[in-house]
Amino acid sequence: MNRLEAIQLLINHTKAKNYLEIGVFNGSNFLEVHAPIKHAVDPVLKITSRYKLHSILHDTRNLFNKYFNITSDAYFEQQKKKLEQKKIDVSFIDGLHTYEQTLIDVKNVLTYLNPNGGIVMHDCSPPSKAHGWPANSKEHAETMNIPGFTGGWCGDSWKAIHHLIEWNNEFNALDIFVLNCDYGLGIVFPKKNFSVSMLNNLKPESIYETLSYEFLDANRQLVINLKNENYLTEYMKNKN
Ligand SMILES: C[S@@+](CC[C@H](N)C(=O)[O-])C[C@H]1O[C@@H](n2cnc3c(N)ncnc32)[C@H](O)[C@@H]1O
Repeated sequence: MNRLEAIQLLINHTKAKNYLEIGVFNGSNFLEVHAPIKHAVDPVLKITSRYKLHSILHDTRNLFNKYFNITSDAYFEQQKKKLEQKKIDVSFIDGLHTYEQTLIDVKNVLTYLNPNGGIVMHDCSPPSKAHGWPANSKEHAETMNIPGFTGGWCGDSWKAIHHLIEWNNEFNALDIFVLNCDYGLGIVFPKKNFSVSMLNNLKPESIYETLSYEFLDANRQLVINLKNENYLTEYMKNKN
């Protein structure tokens, strides 16, 4: 299963209307997602007009896409009022791949997520220490002389998953797991008892920031609740 298939499964299963993608780049995922209303957020959008036109011919609903050439933080600040009225159904988080920003993005999405909505996150199970090296972007990682770096990079978003899992031990208000495919697809669903006020104490903390790759690699089942890629289909079947 790849990210597009996981996102589309969530959209189809929950009959989602509003899709938000954080980190869009050239649109090769965003424009292929089928949903009635789509928001694209990226401070450096690289989608060509030709690809936009092609996507409209493919699915006319792409005509109504909204493009926000800003950071995710600026988007949530700017769209606050609108998001309170028109909640997010499914979001794909694939923007700034740092622990801190990934956690903030998840917190912001959960704040405006419909109760039966869900989140997909990219790059949550880096396959090597070099892939999981903390940096601000792939381009940044390329300048860092990282031992064993071969061009592939995920960042340390996995720490946000681990923090969420530990946070959730207190509340048991989210289902959180990572599919072992496409560099780790993080999946987050609020449960019935979830309320936004629970998020008040969810903030980046240095104990998570400083976790080592070795800690992740020693036991991915425990650290990020790693599941087989078929787990999502089973989970969705059993989800009411
Ligand atoms: C890996 S790419 C996204 C790829 C895309 N989702 C896909 O699957 O094809 C990451 C993108 O995140 C964007 N980005 C970086 N910082 C961001 C931020 N603070 N808010 C939103 N997007 C950000 C970058 O400009 C880059 O285009």
